[in-house]
Amino acid sequence: MILEIKDLYVSVEDNMILQGVNLTVKGGETHAIMGPNGTGKSTLAQICMGHPKYKIESGDILLDGISIKDKAVDERSRMGVFLAMQNPTEVPGVTNFDFVKAAIQTRMAEGEHLRVGKFILKFEEASKNLQMGKGLAHRFLNQGFSGGEKKRNEILQMKLLNPKVAFLDEIDSGLDVDALRIVGENVTKLKSDDLGLVLITHYQRLLDHIVPDVVHVMINGKIVKTGGREIISKIDSQGYDWVKTELGITDFDQRKVPVSLGTCPTKSLK
Ligand SMILES: Nc1ncnc2c1ncn2[C@@H]1O[C@H](COP(=O)(O)OP(=O)(O)OP(=O)(O)O)[C@@H](O)[C@H]1O
Ligand SMILES: [Mg+2]
Repeated sequence: MILEIKDLYVSVEDNMILQGVNLTVKGGETHAIMGPNGTGKSTLAQICMGHPKYKIESGDILLDGISIKDKAVDERSRMGVFLAMQNPTEVPGVTNFDFVKAAIQTRMAEGEHLRVGKFILKFEEASKNLQMGKGLAHRFLNQGFSGGEKKRNEILQMKLLNPKVAFLDEIDSGLDVDALRIVGENVTKLKSDDLGLVLITHYQRLLDHIVPDVVHVMINGKIVKTGGREIISKIDSQGYDWVKTELGITDFDQRKVPVSLGTCPTKSLK
C-alpha cells in the first residue's frame, strides 16, 4: 500500500485551506499529524475520503499509483481508504449492525454472499474487544451515543472493514483514560505491513498508546515540519510557538482561491 498526496491545494467556499500538502504513507507506517486548531488537519483527512464540501484546486491523491481524487466516497472506501471522523455522523433509521453489514456487502464481488452467522460472531468479538455495550449494535448509528461510544464505534468499523489506509481524526477526544488504552490496544493490534495509519491528534497521550514512526506538524494548511517522536513531547510541553519561531511563520495567512486567468484583473486591463 502506498498513499501519495502530492502538492495538494484544497478550498472550501473559496477559502484555500490546504496550501500545498505533500505526504507519502506506506503500508506498515504510522504517521501522526499535529497542529493548532483550524490548520487543515481534518480537511486533509476529509478530502482523502472524498467529502464533497471540499474542492481540490490542484495536486493529486494516489493510492497504489491510481489517482483517487475524482472517485466517489464509496469507491475510495472499497479501494481501502477509511476515515474515523472527528465528529461521527448520526444516521437515524439505520442500525449500527446493518450499517457495517451493508458496507461489507458492497465490497463483495458479484455472486459472493455474506455469511451472516460468521459476520455476527466477528461483530460481537470486535465489540467485546472494544468493551462496547451489547445494545449498541442494534441502536441507530451514532444516535445518542456518548462521545466515547462514537469513537469506539469508529474503531469497530475499522476492525471489520479492514482498510489499507486509515485516517483517525482525533480518535482520542471524548475517551476516558481506560477507553483510550483500549482503543490504543485495538488499533495497535491492527498494525500490519498492509496498513498505513494516519493519526491526527493534539495530545501525546494517544501517541503513547499508538506509537507513530513519523510526526508531522501542520500549520496554515501545510506540513511545515516532519520528524521523530521527540516533536511530540516538545509540542506537549511548549505548544507550537517554537515551531513558528524556528520556521519564521507569522499569523495565519489563509488565501482566497486565485481567480482564474479568464477573470484575472491584469488580463482585463490589457
Ligand atoms: N464552510 C467553510 N467556510 C469557510 N471556512 C471553513 C469552512 N469549513 C471549514 N472551514 C475552515 O477550514 C479551516 C480548517 O479546518 P479543519 O477542520 O481542517 O481544521 P483542523 O486542523 O482539523 O482543526 P481542529 O484541530 O480544531 O480540529 C478552519 O479555519 C475552518 O474554519
Ligand atoms: Mg480537526
